[in-house]
Amino acid sequence: MLKGLIPTGGRGTRLRPFTFSTNKHLIPIANKPLVLYPVEALAKAGVKEIGIVTNETLPEVENLLGNGHKWGLKFTYINQPYPGGLAHVIFVSKEFLEGSKFIYHLGDNIFTQGVGETLGRFLKSGADAAVTYLHHPENRRMGVPYFNKDGRFIKYAEKPKNPPHDLAIPGVYFFNENVYRCFEGADKIKPSARNELEISSVFQWLIDKKYKVEAYPMTGSWRDPGQLGDIIETNHLVMDLMTKYRVESYRIRRSKINGRVSVGRGSKIINSLIDGPVIIGNDVEIVNSHLGPYTAVYHNCSIIDSSIEDSLIMERTIISGIKKKVYKSFIGKGVNIHPHQAVPKTHRLILADLSELYL
Ligand code: G1P
Repeated sequence: MLKGLIPTGGRGTRLRPFTFSTNKHLIPIANKPLVLYPVEALAKAGVKEIGIVTNETLPEVENLLGNGHKWGLKFTYINQPYPGGLAHVIFVSKEFLEGSKFIYHLGDNIFTQGVGETLGRFLKSGADAAVTYLHHPENRRMGVPYFNKDGRFIKYAEKPKNPPHDLAIPGVYFFNENVYRCFEGADKIKPSARNELEISSVFQWLIDKKYKVEAYPMTGSWRDPGQLGDIIETNHLVMDLMTKYRVESYRIRRSKINGRVSVGRGSKIINSLIDGPVIIGNDVEIVNSHLGPYTAVYHNCSIIDSSIEDSLIMERTIISGIKKKVYKSFIGKGVNIHPHQAVPKTHRLILADLSELYL
């Protein structure tokens, strides 16, 4: 039996202030919550049963994902009582996973060509565990694979200072039930300096105990949008590769729509120019405005007398009467951006902690 595992906990500290109010896994990329990318990737790879690991994130995540039937899947929700690390996620999922081979797909990773090919390779190999690897210019902030002179995978280093090459290990891992041995006995894996059970420790334990651990090259592009700039870049990449754009609203008046554009139900576009690729969610109003390429506007926003390009706007935000183009921006939920009319040539700012503003 093959199962899937997707974690949706974690603190998302590098994505503050957004993660003060939104679970990182629910941030929309190309108007789709991030966690849906791994869910759809596993469904496409033929996985039928997935353990969704949550903590206080449970209500929000369950509200979005439900029982999985929408994707032809069956979800089991598993509680991780505290953020104990990526290996701890495996530990708390023992009851659900034991006796199965499984694919562990981090809830914030996107693989543009899916994970079916590497999963197939693992299932055929008879290996106990496997990672994948690909080139990444910033592998210092990732897991890095080390190989011996015969090309055998011998070490999983977590964020090494001086990696010997530009290869990184992305957030998809394959195991059989032997993985549970690393949590038992006197030589079980120990928490790291940041007090987490690291995924690298699991692989190192299996390698050192002579289990069959493999590493496969991953094709396509991979994104792990862990920092604010990554979100805008990932949004851009996903919109570039997307082929399904759909206009579901008939309330488009005196406007011009060029290229690939999606417009959700109940949205209206009046006297505006939309240059795709652009995605507009449901119940959005765009009035006297220009939306340029790679802009994703989530549900219930209003864009009035403004111009926006290469940006991601979350729900219920209002942008009105802004003279300069809003460019490469990532704007949260329920934000109001207006010109300051009361005192000319001034700015009036009401900003929460850790906001970034370029005026
Ligand atoms: C985790 C893993 C790291 C891996 C990365 C992929 O890092 O520990 O080895 O390369 O996911 O997304 P984190 O993003 O938790 O720092």
